[in-house]
Amino acid sequence: MSADGVADGWVCAGSWRTASPEDTMDAGRWLAGRLRRGEAVSLVGPLGAGKTTFARGIIAGLGHHGRVRSPSFTLVNRYETDPVIIHADLYRVLDSSELLALDFDESREEGVLLVEWADRVETGWGVADWRVTIEVLEGENERLVTIEARR
Ligand SMILES: Nc1ncnc2c1ncn2[C@@H]1O[C@H](COP(=O)(O)OP(=O)(O)OP(=O)(O)O)[C@@H](O)[C@H]1O
Ligand SMILES: [Mg+2]
Repeated sequence: MSADGVADGWVCAGSWRTASPEDTMDAGRWLAGRLRRGEAVSLVGPLGAGKTTFARGIIAGLGHHGRVRSPSFTLVNRYETDPVIIHADLYRVLDSSELLALDFDESREEGVLLVEWADRVETGWGVADWRVTIEVLEGENERLVTIEARR
């Protein structure tokens, strides 16, 4: 990373050291206000890091008061917020034909796409405008949440 914080076409938009799921949701709320229709957010981090928790913050930040379930089995969940949120999890998606069936191009025309485990599938779901990386730190419940924007 260079001195101005720029690496690989991404620029750091903010980072939070969080100590609870609620803190991580607050970082998601911060991003919620910056998302525009047509954008995609890649959520990166190991199993149980807090990707769904962060997505919950985004979706709550856009005014959805109901439950936000992990899309790990349904693959895609949709929220009628403004903009519409399509929340996907590619952990179980094995190949690009399955990916095509999810029709992410259409989703992006309608709203904002949030994708967990996008890095497991080589191609086919598009290019992210935002990348959220969640690292698990030493302390119990501590995470480092970094939000980057594509330049
Ligand atoms: N600071 C924190 N931020 C987020 N989650 C936390 C934090 N501390 C503890 N947790 C716990 O870690 C878990 C995160 O689960 P979550 O489903 O959000 O992770 P995930 O990255 O989506 O996992 P998966 O890879 O299975 O989809 C929850 O049980 C949550 O309560
Ligand atoms: Mg998840």
